[in-house]
Amino acid sequence: MSSPALAALAALPQADLKSIFTTDPDRLSKFTLTQGPIRFDWSKTHLTDGLFDGFLKLAEEKGFAGHRDALFAGEAVNNTEGRAAEHPAERGEGNADSVARAKMFHARMRALIDAIEGEALGPIRHILHIGIGGSALGPDLIVDALGGDGGRYDVAIVSNVDGTALERAISRFDPEATLIAVASKTFTTTETMLNAASAINWMVEAGVDDPYGRVIALTASPDKAIEWGVDETRVLPFAESVGGRYSLWSSIGFPAALALGWDAFESLLEGAAAMDRHFRLSDPRQNAPLIAAFVDQYYARVLGCQTRALFAYDERLRLLPSYLQQLEMESNGKSVTRDGTPVDGPTAPITWGGVGTDAQHAVFQLLHQGTILTPVEFIASIEPGHALDPAHHRALLVNCFAQGAALMRGKDNAADPARAYHGNRPSTTILLDDVTPEALGALIAFYEHRTFANAVLMGINPFDQFGVELGKEIARSIEAEGPKGFDPSTMALIDLALGGV
Ligand code: F6P
Repeated sequence: MSSPALAALAALPQADLKSIFTTDPDRLSKFTLTQGPIRFDWSKTHLTDGLFDGFLKLAEEKGFAGHRDALFAGEAVNNTEGRAAEHPAERGEGNADSVARAKMFHARMRALIDAIEGEALGPIRHILHIGIGGSALGPDLIVDALGGDGGRYDVAIVSNVDGTALERAISRFDPEATLIAVASKTFTTTETMLNAASAINWMVEAGVDDPYGRVIALTASPDKAIEWGVDETRVLPFAESVGGRYSLWSSIGFPAALALGWDAFESLLEGAAAMDRHFRLSDPRQNAPLIAAFVDQYYARVLGCQTRALFAYDERLRLLPSYLQQLEMESNGKSVTRDGTPVDGPTAPITWGGVGTDAQHAVFQLLHQGTILTPVEFIASIEPGHALDPAHHRALLVNCFAQGAALMRGKDNAADPARAYHGNRPSTTILLDDVTPEALGALIAFYEHRTFANAVLMGINPFDQFGVELGKEIARSIEAEGPKGFDPSTMALIDLALGGV
């Protein structure tokens, strides 16, 4: 670890969680914070007053306040691509011109939704949303979390180029009652364009009149969408300065706005805007995304934990782990700083997780007794998402809180080591009042800003993703020119499975 600031933090004595509430009786009030509908509890982590002060100093040294101001001012914080990162503008926060442009695009989306609801495109019952990565994970999470009662339309989100994904979706849809939303910031992504072409073919084969008349494009490249065949009136643009994995607030959120209703979509944006203001305006000592980033930095960079695990103790949030994998790993899985020099330590750990209580019966063994220290994050809601016997929700929450206590407390058993629990294992708990559009908007914005705060503390740019390009380039070259000059293993695999292509 070559950073002096991190070395100073590492030199601080490490607390033992088993006795931490005895040595620091005030830590519950010190290390919990309620922001709108969300309560954050870091009291069962190793955060101490000394570490907190050290991280505040690190944030100052790294120019945190300046970077945050630059983000909200719409400056080119994505320095390697010379672009701003204007997802907050989609929520009404940030540079005034960008906010005005986002509002105009939202008004256009709303008008099209009104037209669809008025059956201008026919009697639509099914929405086939085709996109991948940031153009799929956000809408999928929102529709799944908030549309549990079926929503107003039947929505399928298809991302994988594997035809099985599209085939499964369309097998349950009536082509005459389906709207295709092609979601792609660039409108060039191979998987999306192939799936979109196959979806059009499905409509053609089913005898649908004017299949292109049923296509909506959600994109920052309207010209490409028009060139592909989408009528200009059904292109819903968003700004180039909104990154793919930060784009669910833009027209990429179209299936959520249509299926859940415009009011719900607006509430989602308002919840996120409240978190934007909290992040932008509150003191670093009371700033949830920044404090969460301190905890992340401590485990990933000071203690060298290579993963962090999160478990949604709420079925409505079951897609949150995969959403956050893209957000955190595509943003902060980097090896160089903003100026291109090598980083001074580890960057983003691997984000993984699942849902409770299922995960307790699958992976928690390792968390309690394995040799790898993994900081855990629990996310739960006070209100249930169902009307069944309250015993269900009670059992869910009791299990969630019991796991955090067990990780921290452990259990000695000198006579039988196989039954001993180490304890001193950290967890954070994030408790929502309920999984409402506002709370979900605030929660996702919290994670976005936490990811940004982590990047600032590491001196990296979280808004590019060049690491995803090389594999795509090689795949394109194989398609275009056939396999040439690869290692024997790759040549043999191509030969065996594709007959040399
Ligand atoms: O491959 C990574 C990526 O560029 C993501 O960052 C992005 O969300 C996804 O591909 C989809 O890109 P697009 O929206 O341009 O189709």
